[in-house]
Amino acid sequence: MASTEERLKDLRNRKARSEAGGGQARVDSQHNRGKLTARERMELLLDDGSFQEMDALVEHRCKDFGMEKNVIPGDGVVTGHGTINGREVFAFAQDFTVYGGSLGEMHGLKICKVLDMALKTGRPVIGMNDSGGARIQEGVASLGSYAEIFFRNVRSSGVIPQISVIMGPCAGGAVYSPAITDFVIMVDQTAHMFITGPEVIKTVTNEEVSFEDLGGAMTHGSKSGVSHFTAVSDEEAIHLARELADLLPQNNMEKPPTRKTSDPKDRVCEKLDTIIPTESNKPYDVIDVINEIVDDGAFLEVQADWAKNIVIGFAHLGGNTVGVVANQPKFLAGCLDIDASDKAARFVRFCDAFNIPILTLEDVPGFLPGTSQEWGGIIRHGAKLLYAYAEATVPLLTVILRKAYGGAYDVMSSKHIRGDYNIAWPNAELAVMGADGAVEIIHRKRIANSRNAEEERTRLTEDFNDTFANPYKAAALGYLDDVIEPRETRSKLIRSLEMLMDKEELRPARKHGNIPL
Ligand code: HXC
Repeated sequence: MASTEERLKDLRNRKARSEAGGGQARVDSQHNRGKLTARERMELLLDDGSFQEMDALVEHRCKDFGMEKNVIPGDGVVTGHGTINGREVFAFAQDFTVYGGSLGEMHGLKICKVLDMALKTGRPVIGMNDSGGARIQEGVASLGSYAEIFFRNVRSSGVIPQISVIMGPCAGGAVYSPAITDFVIMVDQTAHMFITGPEVIKTVTNEEVSFEDLGGAMTHGSKSGVSHFTAVSDEEAIHLARELADLLPQNNMEKPPTRKTSDPKDRVCEKLDTIIPTESNKPYDVIDVINEIVDDGAFLEVQADWAKNIVIGFAHLGGNTVGVVANQPKFLAGCLDIDASDKAARFVRFCDAFNIPILTLEDVPGFLPGTSQEWGGIIRHGAKLLYAYAEATVPLLTVILRKAYGGAYDVMSSKHIRGDYNIAWPNAELAVMGADGAVEIIHRKRIANSRNAEEERTRLTEDFNDTFANPYKAAALGYLDDVIEPRETRSKLIRSLEMLMDKEELRPARKHGNIPL
């Protein structure tokens, strides 16, 4: 019979084999590519000494293709839990040094265990992906485990925050787990996501494209909108994941944590009085407006390089986390188009699911005209944003900075779709459409019959602007709760937000709505 000492030695050997992963040569190759190993990533993600590993001794049970002779305990993924600034999270990191991080049956089931524990205990999950995809030798058992993961991602959606960090390949159907999670962070140059790779594309469509152009961080951060953040290194990606987890509640039953600030709640923001150009068509950067209003000028922008005509991200107001949605007049004059609608709609739904109040800063000339928008389904996509706002029951604060025209006025958190605190600056313009278009429609005959058409058009346009290009008609109807001096914006918003923190609003019970996807 083995002595205690021998048993301990055996255990230590087993753990050491698990920790060694695919061996030093493969670890060196990982480092040479500028990538950290799975364990290094886990250590960096979690507070010092807080990582508690699970399933380090799990092994695959594949007997095909000689796999029975190649067993590495842990099976290519490091899983467990630990803390981020003292708050518990679950995490997994795929180990590219073991079978290329490919996902076999047991590897997949390890991830499933973490997802199950996270849901049971109401904790966020952070997944670090670095994998050749389905483990080819394990065939359908590998596909089965993938689907088990997808199912859990969907079941946890809106219950616990799920964050994916892509730090290597993520190909084929494997992309659908990150796609379902709330945030995708990609590392520039080393992360690649695609359904079919460059070689298959060449065969099928004859297109030639590099890995980077097809599915690199820049592509998904600026063209497809799949990714929410681009990081320059593993370290920066992990730092971002920590920052996000720090902002968010642990689950949908909690409010987000508050953050201490020395920024006075009643700070007068004099800069705001002149931040918007007097000419109503002149662009400006709405991020300057956000920075001026929020605590300590700190704004974490999400999807900064995609659909730039709308800005989304997180900030704090008087210590409370808020989600900010703002039209960006610097791009496409801040119009709503297909991508902007999708971007903002998903963000509004995320905030609503996790009890994060939404601050909407509105300066929108309307929906973007054009056949590409109409044929691309702007009706369907714009409806998502309307749906998301109308469905939201978190506190909704809306400031009309300048333009609020047409359907976009209704959609962007208006009083009518249950905005809680709707205010405007004195130069706000609320109307069905801009003066030029409106005058052409309602005064066409009058202009045509006048002696001097140009003069008449100018006079009627000015008249229209005097009547409608102000916030007072809406204020008189109670559609705006107040018209304020821009400098008062921060203090007014914080007072209202504090009042609204205990807001409770119910919607009729139903299985689920039918958002126009
Ligand atoms: C088993 C795999 C593997 C896989 C890589 N490896 N991918 N083993 N199953 N899917 C192994 C390699 O054999 C190699 O083992 C080691 O991992 C490293 O791979 P390399 O090719 O040497 O690395 P690199 O040159 O960096 O290329 C990485 C790669 C490439 C781009 C990921 O390996 C690759 O194209 N793999 C196949 C990707 C793929 O088509 N997967 C299936 C996608 S479909 P050794 O022992 O030599 O170190 C899919 C469906 C999911 O995933 C469906 C879910 C519904």
